[in-house]
Amino acid sequence: MSDLFDFGNRVDDYAVMGNPIAHSKSPAIHQLFAGQTGQSIHYTAIHVDIGGFKQAVGNFVAAGGKGLNITVPFKQEAWELVDRRSERAERAGAVNTIKVEGESLYGDNTDGVGLVNDLGNNQVELTGKKILLMGAGGAAHGVLIPLLKQQPQLLFIANRTPDRAKDLADDFADAGNIQGGGYDALETQQFDVVINATAASLQGELPPLPANLLTDSASCYDMMYGAKPTPFMQWAKEHGAGKVLDGLGMLVEQAAESFYIWRGVRPETAPVISKLRKELNA
Ligand code: ATR
Repeated sequence: MSDLFDFGNRVDDYAVMGNPIAHSKSPAIHQLFAGQTGQSIHYTAIHVDIGGFKQAVGNFVAAGGKGLNITVPFKQEAWELVDRRSERAERAGAVNTIKVEGESLYGDNTDGVGLVNDLGNNQVELTGKKILLMGAGGAAHGVLIPLLKQQPQLLFIANRTPDRAKDLADDFADAGNIQGGGYDALETQQFDVVINATAASLQGELPPLPANLLTDSASCYDMMYGAKPTPFMQWAKEHGAGKVLDGLGMLVEQAAESFYIWRGVRPETAPVISKLRKELNA
């Protein structure tokens, strides 16, 4: 009976799905966005068992859910599941944002634009610059199109397994000046912007970088973040980087783009980034 009095007041449901998911900051970020923009939403984190992704999305949609963020390890499955994809999601081979449109699922990928926006917020110029992207896995793949849209002079992908980097560069050759190879190919080159999209920081490791890799006042960006600088961020400081940034801003920026896709309203990211930064350092 209470449903009779419910119309107009129903709060729209959103969630992030992943495995693991317990430490996700997405619910906190989206509730801050909602408060700031006056949008009534309810956002939760849903742990999904491996093999149970399609069913979990089906249940969420059947219950009236309006949108999802998708994180590790389900972004490729989400790409396969959706009915329609944005160009950037199509090329990324991964979907991190689903919008429920009636019976149909629309998939987008906001990771790359999140990275580019965070670099922009930090006055890191990409157009006409030489960019090195370390890693050729899902994280690297997801950001290639938005990076190339900034028209760098060169986007070089370096990877421990060089053939993966070369294959990725070949696949995106139509979208800009992109090359791929191993870390040994970096000996003779210098870069203005170096982005770490490897899983090395997670293991407390550093890809093998030559000492003279950076141009004067180059910018270094690690897509990971934590209370302490990653090994790559430490390396960057010791090798003369002008700016050294971690991935906390990217996390908030990709969320803001998802929020915009769902709600048509753009939240302010700066206060959310600084709140999370304070919590991280506490
Ligand atoms: P993700 O989705 O996070 O990108 P992934 O697809 O498993 O995860 O890719 C991990 C990336 O980090 C790969 O580029 C991997 O290099 P390989 O292709 O040679 O495996 C890279 N990587 C992982 N550990 C690394 C390390 N210790 N040093 C350098 N690169 C590393």
